[in-house]
Amino acid sequence: MGRPNVVVVEDPRELGRAGAEWVARRVAGTPEASVVVPTGETPLNLYRELATLRDQGRFDPSMITVCQLDEYLGIGLDDRRRLFGWMQRTFLEPLRIADERVVRLPVSGDLDVACAAYDRELEGRGGVGIAILGIGANGHLGFNEPPSDRSAPTRRVQLSRSSVEANARYWGSPDDVPRSAVTIGMAPLLAARSILLLASGAGKQTIVTRAMQGPIVPDVPASYLQEADDVTVLVDRAAWPEGDRT
Ligand code: PGA
Repeated sequence: MGRPNVVVVEDPRELGRAGAEWVARRVAGTPEASVVVPTGETPLNLYRELATLRDQGRFDPSMITVCQLDEYLGIGLDDRRRLFGWMQRTFLEPLRIADERVVRLPVSGDLDVACAAYDRELEGRGGVGIAILGIGANGHLGFNEPPSDRSAPTRRVQLSRSSVEANARYWGSPDDVPRSAVTIGMAPLLAARSILLLASGAGKQTIVTRAMQGPIVPDVPASYLQEADDVTVLVDRAAWPEGDRT
């Protein structure tokens, strides 16, 4: 265990560049890693930069296995707003990741059984090698909503009001946002060999500060990153507390 390494960059564009370099270096060191990939706004520049690195022959993702971080429940399998669809459009297709190298979260059947099987599958692959994560304004990682403690497994969850409101822009109104989801648990995420947490914009400053400098508590699930191995926190200036700027 070591303290997270905080890297502050100028703006979202630099965040994408620095994040892509980080991912490319880690994948070069462990080409067959299981890589957890988030959706949301923050990683989009990183994914674009990775596609550029790939096209330049500087990043080879052909051997990684991509593991889905979270997914809504109760929507059509072909709904465009399914998080898997977002991951396809922004990550899998630009990087030409083959279907058989993707592990999807379960969305039907007995979810308790299927989520436990997902965790066993991750373990069978040697655990998560690289976890790329965003942070919710409420401190969630994936959809590990507060309170989530360090041992929470992959499971079905109810979305918090904060997450419903944050995602309303994709659904038209908060009333249309699904209320339940599946998320990779805290336990498999925190056990990842390398973690990259991304945060961009002033709206994330308060929660990034609480997660990195506040007490380690279930009410701020991202605070558990303070005690995980090999964590890099990549933030732009707007997302990092004023007094701590370099
Ligand atoms: P965002 O989402 O990148 O769209 O801000 C992050 C999250 O909610 O985990």
